[in-house]
Amino acid sequence: MTAAPIDVPSAGPSPIAPDEAGISSAARALREGRLVVFPTETVYGLGASGLDAAALDRLFLAKGRPLDNPLILHVASPESARDLYRTFPDEAVRLASAFWPGPLTLVLSRDPKVPDAVTCGLDTVAVRVPSHPIARALLVAAGVPIAAPSANLSGRPSPTRVEDARADLGDRVAVYLDGGPSPLGVESTVIGLAGDAAVLLRPGGLAREAIEEVLGRKLLLPAPEEPARSPGMKYRHYAPRARVHVAPEGEILSRVAALEGAGRRVAIVASAESIARGILGRCPGAREDGEAWARMLYSLLRDLDAEGVDDIVVEEVPERGVGAAVMNRLRKAAQGG
Ligand code: TXA
Ligand code: MG
Repeated sequence: MTAAPIDVPSAGPSPIAPDEAGISSAARALREGRLVVFPTETVYGLGASGLDAAALDRLFLAKGRPLDNPLILHVASPESARDLYRTFPDEAVRLASAFWPGPLTLVLSRDPKVPDAVTCGLDTVAVRVPSHPIARALLVAAGVPIAAPSANLSGRPSPTRVEDARADLGDRVAVYLDGGPSPLGVESTVIGLAGDAAVLLRPGGLAREAIEEVLGRKLLLPAPEEPARSPGMKYRHYAPRARVHVAPEGEILSRVAALEGAGRRVAIVASAESIARGILGRCPGAREDGEAWARMLYSLLRDLDAEGVDDIVVEEVPERGVGAAVMNRLRKAAQGG
């Protein structure tokens, strides 16, 4: 189920500084049912008033988001988060006190006050308490939960700079708050605690290993026959216009040669180790530095698109810590479709 296809919009309003005046005009726009782009510690969010069904409709339309892909509600405090759930089990208490505010989203059974437009009819809701000071100031000023997917057109890389969001969403947004580059650069980790198991619904900016340490047990992966447990993960995502290929270090040059032999313009994204061995390409950081790769990934993909390359060959990184989220996004970007 997909929303109607949409054209790229015309240029929207200029981004504004997140000072007192900026925050209060963004909060007013939200309360009036309009859309606001704001920074979080993960990526930029496209915010709508989370309990306003008409504003939520506008949000799905602006992104071209499939109507069965539920939203994350953002709130200012763990107490406000608990208010949106029906129950808050002991494991949720432990994760919330260890990681909120921060890049963790908890999916639990929902309180009846949460609109169907947020959950797409599921009986669970995803909530997080962001740590970014501008997101927090906006939440306090707005006084309502803010529903916020990443501020990209559906299927495109998430924005880590305000101009990336504006390039995608233009005049569909009333206010763009400029908070500079996103500190983490990859979306929150989504954990499902609605049943007996603790499920890793989406790897993200908080390492799985850190969550397992607090829980004292392993996270499960959603069963493949249960895509509805993690609706967003079944869609092609995070993809630039250029085709993305993921390759281990030893196969980068042969992949590039084959593509160039077919007349294509190819860019390489590789680790510091590979660059030191003579591979020419863009370098987010050392192979083990998942945080650095996360910070650079989406902006690199967008910049290479702007340069007009046909293909981007990206080196595989180890799936440890935040590196797992980097590889998850790269594989999805590479899926094609
Ligand atoms: O870091 C982030 O989480 C960013 C910033 C803006 O906070 N937001 C974000 O939202 O990445 P979005 O909409 O791009 O991704 C939300 C993810 C999707 O994979 C969606 O399927 C999942 O959360 N999700 C939301 N509600 C859910 C639910 N009730 N059950 C399972 N998964 C859910
Ligand atoms: Mg997204």
